Amino acid sequence: MDNEVIKAILERRSIRSFKPEPVPDGVLDTILQAGSFAPTANGTQAWHITAIVGQEKIAELDAKLKESSKIEGFDRYRKFVSGAYTINFKNGPVFVIVGSHRTESVCPVEDGTLVLGNILLAAHALELGACWINQLVAVGEEPGFRSYLTSLGFPATHLVIGSAVIGIPASPHPKAHKRKPGQINVVN
Ligand SMILES: Cc1cc2nc3c(=O)[nH]c(=O)nc-3n(C[C@H](O)[C@H](O)[C@H](O)COP(=O)(O)O)c2cc1C
Repeated sequence: MDNEVIKAILERRSIRSFKPEPVPDGVLDTILQAGSFAPTANGTQAWHITAIVGQEKIAELDAKLKESSKIEGFDRYRKFVSGAYTINFKNGPVFVIVGSHRTESVCPVEDGTLVLGNILLAAHALELGACWINQLVAVGEEPGFRSYLTSLGFPATHLVIGSAVIGIPASPHPKAHKRKPGQINVVN
């Protein structure tokens, strides 16, 4: 089918290596706006997006995340956080964190996931690359990491639902994986 939206959906891939160049401001604004137009349960729009721009700030996030991941009880990623390991931000120049309001959102996980889904797709449609990065969810409620999030302007009222790196892809775009057969059931 010759349709730009469908084409973008069918061709999008997770991109994990980036050129050092920044994402132009106008392009980032459009990507974030695409996120903001995701549907929300009951139309609450009870999400929040914090976009962290630039390697210096992202390195700071990496350090805080490492520190918090080492704390007992928040140790899902502990095995990865020793030495010089970087929490897999793939050196992208933009990192977005999506949250949903703890009480105002009727379906916080679904709302935030759709916001992030729009962001990933919009980045691809605008010839950038993006990848969901899962590690923040595990430490989103750890007090030290939470106060760092608050210092960035991420509201205390919001749960971390997901995050993603965005940048200019360093390699040619890979083809989409084949889809598993037998998982779509159409009943007439
Ligand atoms: C909920 C979720 C969490 C993910 N977490 C990570 C992650 O932490 N690091 C990463 O490199 N990719 C992560 N991914 C990307 C998946 O690995 C990727 O979507 C999958 O391998 C399919 O590849 P594709 O996106 O290129 O089609 C995540 C994807 C989803 C939906």
